[in-house]
Amino acid sequence: MCGIVGYVGSRRVVPVILEGLRKLEYRGYDSAGIVYYQDSKLIKYRCEGKLSALEALIDDAIIAPSHIGLGHTRWATHGAPTTENAHPHTDCTGELVLVHNGIIENYHSLRLELQAKGHVFKSQTDTEVLVHLIEDYLENDLVAAVQQALTRVEGSYAFGLFWAQMPDTLIAVRKHSPLVLGVDESGAGYIASDIPALLPYTNQVIFLEDGEMAVIKENDMQVFDSVSGNRVQKEATTITWNAAMAEKAGYKHFMLKEIFEQPMAIRNTISGRINPETGEVTLAEINLSDEDFCNIDRIFLVACGTSWHTALVAKYWIEKYAKIPVDVDIASEFRYRNLLINDRVLTISISQSGETADTLAGIRLAKQLGSKVITICNVVGSTMTREADGTVYTHAGPEIGVASTKAFTSQLAAFFLFTIFLGEKRGTLETEKKLELAAALIDIARVIEELLPVLQEQIAQLIEGYYDCSDFLFVGRGVNFPIALEGALKLKEISYIHAEGYAAGELKHGPIALIDNKMPVLAIAPQDDLYQKTISNVEEIKARQGRIILIGTEGDKHLNTITDAIIYLPKVHDEMNPILYTIPAQLLSYEIATMRGCDVDQPRNLAKSVTVE
Ligand code: F6R
Repeated sequence: MCGIVGYVGSRRVVPVILEGLRKLEYRGYDSAGIVYYQDSKLIKYRCEGKLSALEALIDDAIIAPSHIGLGHTRWATHGAPTTENAHPHTDCTGELVLVHNGIIENYHSLRLELQAKGHVFKSQTDTEVLVHLIEDYLENDLVAAVQQALTRVEGSYAFGLFWAQMPDTLIAVRKHSPLVLGVDESGAGYIASDIPALLPYTNQVIFLEDGEMAVIKENDMQVFDSVSGNRVQKEATTITWNAAMAEKAGYKHFMLKEIFEQPMAIRNTISGRINPETGEVTLAEINLSDEDFCNIDRIFLVACGTSWHTALVAKYWIEKYAKIPVDVDIASEFRYRNLLINDRVLTISISQSGETADTLAGIRLAKQLGSKVITICNVVGSTMTREADGTVYTHAGPEIGVASTKAFTSQLAAFFLFTIFLGEKRGTLETEKKLELAAALIDIARVIEELLPVLQEQIAQLIEGYYDCSDFLFVGRGVNFPIALEGALKLKEISYIHAEGYAAGELKHGPIALIDNKMPVLAIAPQDDLYQKTISNVEEIKARQGRIILIGTEGDKHLNTITDAIIYLPKVHDEMNPILYTIPAQLLSYEIATMRGCDVDQPRNLAKSVTVE
């Protein structure tokens, strides 16, 4: 998704903006641009491709003094990723400049109207109508012109703009797309699509809400309701992440670093929330009363992608231990189906970013229908956490690699905590069981930590025979079925190998037709209560000469009778298998993708935070 960075202050603006944009690269983009005010004029550079191409264009300017500017990385929606369509866009005078993230839904009619009035457009983007529309209302008062323009615009937007005739003022507006403000000790003001862009300069962040507009000068930042124009008082939040956390720290890729950070991420997620002596769970930001939890008779879990896989695992856990029926929905489906939701339903969104457009729309809808809403989220202060009644934070730290890894296992850890918490509130968990589950969760970070270095080496060797496959199947059963889905998603998104995940028992209802001696099938086969069933399914694959890779329990000799390609994992509590068995699936995808020469941190066509529908 598009990335916005803006700065007004006494530093040289170009390096600040380029560094900020670099920190947003993980969002995915296909062109980039920058504009700044220098020697009484606007200087603008735009190009297709990566930031390095933009940097090459503006080398000289990095040393030139300039104190206000905007930068943008564009993830194309309307119009191809060309230089002409790259942001910043300007009005007819060339003096008003704007960068935007989101979609202006009524751009077509606005464009026709503005063209009829003589405005000349230079791009195919929806964004360009915004800047011409503001120009149309602009006499002397830029803030008033923005306010008037906003009354005409439909859709989602976060944008930043400034005007050459007012070169001390940056304006930022947000509606349904993320935008944060930053302030530092020197009095400088920042705008950015996400917190990592600000971390090299400040950890003081102000979250803009939908419908708010910020007018930012050096030493002065004011926020208004963009409709009424009324002043809104905002407090800065101190972000505990630091800039180093968003660096690679010697790893070849963010994804690998984040895979190795999982023990820490899980520990941080559960730390201080679970009492090992009693199994009792405390969730400080949950904000719902015991009565609320006892009154619900159904739970809806809403998420996208990897976070949806977390929801699928959570369904097994919650139904088993808290004894409440759970529906799991992909957010883009949830928001458009006939929902039987009322005040006895609890809706839980799961999101790393807390900004995913479909998930956000889903919880807004659930709230309208009377449901209480909790979000399981990694980003403090993100939109979802502000809109939900309560939050269970995953404390995974910034996840930069586009493919979600540590956020996923931290979500699982957070959901397991929540399951114990709910079981406790609803009286469905015996103390003994609670202690058993708590102990299992507390121990899993240690197991993964000890395993990771050995596992990476083993998998690197194993994949040599598989990296050039064109298709891959992942299978699992029960609580591990979603891990098969997650393994397949990881592989396809970073290596571009076609991969599918199936419930192992479902193979014979269709997909088994694909099995031949070329088709690799990775089966998740821990010695749990479905072990024999899974092994029978694997035997069916073997009987059809499928190339089987097994992930199973250390010491399980039977696996050797099926295949030579085995990844052994330590025996842990059955309920921890989804967390444990995810790790080899992540490493396998990573190793295959790097062997194929893929850009694992920024896979083609993907964005980290999907803020458009
Ligand atoms: C896959 C991946 C995506 C995200 C999805 C939801 O590796 O990262 O499938 O899980 O886009 O994002 P969040 O969790 O930020 O709502």
